[in-house]
Order: sequence, then structure tokens, then C-alpha cells
Amino acid sequence: MDDNAPTLTRGGLPEDEVFDKTLRPRSLDEFIGQQKLKDNLKVFIEAARKRKEPLDHALFYSPPGLGKTTLASILAREMGVNLRTTAGPVLERVGDLAAILTDLEEGDVFFIDEIHRMNALVEESLYPVMEDFALYISTGKGPGATAMKLAIKRFTLVGATTRAGLLTSPLRDRFGIVGNLGFYETNELDQIVKRSAKILEIDSEPEGTMEIARRSRGTPRIANRLLRRVRDFAQVQGDGVITKALAKKALDALEVDPEGLDAMDRRLLLTLTEKFNGGPVGIDSLAVAVSEEIDTLVDVYEPFLIQAGFLNRTSRGRVATPKAFAHLGLKPPKKEGDLFS
Ligand SMILES: Nc1ncnc2c1ncn2[C@@H]1O[C@H](COP(=O)(O)OP(=O)(O)O)[C@@H](O)[C@H]1O
Ligand SMILES: [Mg+2]
Repeated sequence: MDDNAPTLTRGGLPEDEVFDKTLRPRSLDEFIGQQKLKDNLKVFIEAARKRKEPLDHALFYSPPGLGKTTLASILAREMGVNLRTTAGPVLERVGDLAAILTDLEEGDVFFIDEIHRMNALVEESLYPVMEDFALYISTGKGPGATAMKLAIKRFTLVGATTRAGLLTSPLRDRFGIVGNLGFYETNELDQIVKRSAKILEIDSEPEGTMEIARRSRGTPRIANRLLRRVRDFAQVQGDGVITKALAKKALDALEVDPEGLDAMDRRLLLTLTEKFNGGPVGIDSLAVAVSEEIDTLVDVYEPFLIQAGFLNRTSRGRVATPKAFAHLGLKPPKKEGDLFS
């Protein structure tokens, strides 16, 4: 494990994979929060079961770490079917898709993570599969090329993406169920931390788990990650119990501030406020200034900063809010055009 690993990464850290599996809720009842989506899914699952049909194709979108993969595996479990998992970039050719599809059993859940990153040919071959469970494979080249039709067993496609806007509309329109997962409330994250602490047999006080929840950026994966890091501190610098004081000390040492912002969040906001005078500034200039990829800024960092009220996206670019200035201990600049300045 890398001690200096950031609290935020695009996907998960390698260590997360193991913990994600242990800590992943296995049923909708264990899945905390997202009540409305959960209620709807319960209805869809029950209806499909009654009709003895596969569940409709489902698309989940949200920033990383909010539960898309978890929901896909829960759907399979609740439907009592197998789960097959792949990711958009892995499906390089139609043949890769065919290999999986022809292997599916009736009703199975086929999960495609990062579904916005499929190549166009694979994506197009998926349309008739989603609609009619027919896969067309072209054989030969040029005028003599013919298409071979493969019948696929009825199954449920579950797709996950960090931004619904990245999906082409023909693909998006073929999902019968579309669910957007939002950031979690602090009390929901607290329940998640408590549940994880119990599974990992970590001793904690209520105010200790609450402190972790408050600083988790509304994100279950980060809550679980911080819990493990804080546990390290508790074992080395305390008596193993996560108290409020210990959680605070550990999170400060990890450079996660009271609002849950990490070093990169603050660098982003500092660059925006100091270098660009609070904006507006284009995302490309901002990305260059903080040496980060545009996609990472947009998918991983911005959603929470916007939701928490530190940043605004305007037609002229990104703008730091008064809350961002206040959080960094800075005074918002007076701007030309400000009416009463
Ligand atoms: N609603 C939830 N309740 C409890 N734990 C959750 C919930 N959503 C996510 N988690 C935890 O966070 C981890 C990351 O979730 P995951 O489904 O992998 O996110 P995503 O696929 O959206 O990036 C999971 O392994 C699980 O431990
Ligand atoms: Mg995932």
C-alpha cells in the first residue's frame, strides 16, 4: 500500500479492490442511501421476477465511488442470476463482445463499466443486441461482405459511466432504466463507515465515525478509504479506538480538511482564486495550470466542488465562489462590472 496515495483517484486504488469486495453491500436493503432509486429498482425487480423476464437494461451514472458497480452486482444477486463484468475499453472488437454474449445464460446481468469508452463499431453492434437480442457479425470485406446473425439469450445489460453526457443518444435511449446516483448525506456516510468498521472489526466511537463521514466528499469509497487510514493512526498513535480527537488528528495528517477537500482540491481552488483571480477561466487552462487531465478534473474533482458550493461552471468558464475564497482565507476580488463596488 502506498502511504502517500491521494484520497481521490480516477478509479480505485489497487488496495480498494480487495476492500471494495469485502465491504460491498450485497442486497438493496444493505445499500445505504439513494432511497428513490432503490425504491424504483425494487419495483422493477419484483415486476420482472413476477413476469419471469429479465430485468430491463439499466444505466447508472455518477462520479466515481458512489455505488454503480455495487448496484450492478446487487441487481444480479436480487434477480438470482450470474454477473458478467467487463469495461468499455476492454471490448476492442465486435468479436470480444460476441465471445461474452454467446456465453450468457438466460436472464444474466452483463455489466459494462465505463460504457462511454467503447469503440464505435462495438457500440453500434450492441444496439440490435439490446433491442432484439441479435448480434450481427460481418464476414468478409468490401462488396462481398455479408452479415451473420447470432441469436443471444435474453439478458440484462447494465452500463456505468461517470457522465451521462458522454454517451451517444442512440445508446442512452436503449436503456429502460436510467439511474443517477448523487453524493451521499453525512448521516448516510456515517452509517456506511459504521457498517464497514463493524465488518473490519475496528473499534470506534460515534463522534469518530461522524468525523470521517463529514470529510468523505459525499463518497462511500472515500469514506471506506479514510476509515482504513484512520485505523492505522488509531493503532499506532492511539489505543486502536477511533475517537473524534484521533479521527481529526489523522485526517489533518492526511491533508483532508474539515470540508473533506484534499490537497488537489485546494490546489485547484488556489489556482483558480490566486492565479486566475477567481475566474472565469476555461477548463483547459485550469488543467494545464494544475498539471492534471481535463477529464479527471471534470469527472473526479469538479462534481463535488460544485455540489459543495466552491465552484461554478459558467458559459465563460469556471468561477470560484465566495465560499471558496472564504475557505482558503482569501478576500474575493472586486471585479469590474460588479454593480455596487
Ligand atoms: N450505498 C452504499 N452503501 C454502502 N456502501 C457503499 C454504497 N455505495 C458504495 N459503497 C461502497 O463504496 C465502494 C465503491 O462503490 P462502487 O460501487 O465501486 O462505486 P462506483 O462503481 O460508482 O465507482 C463499494 O465497494 C462499497 O464498499
Ligand atoms: Mg465502479
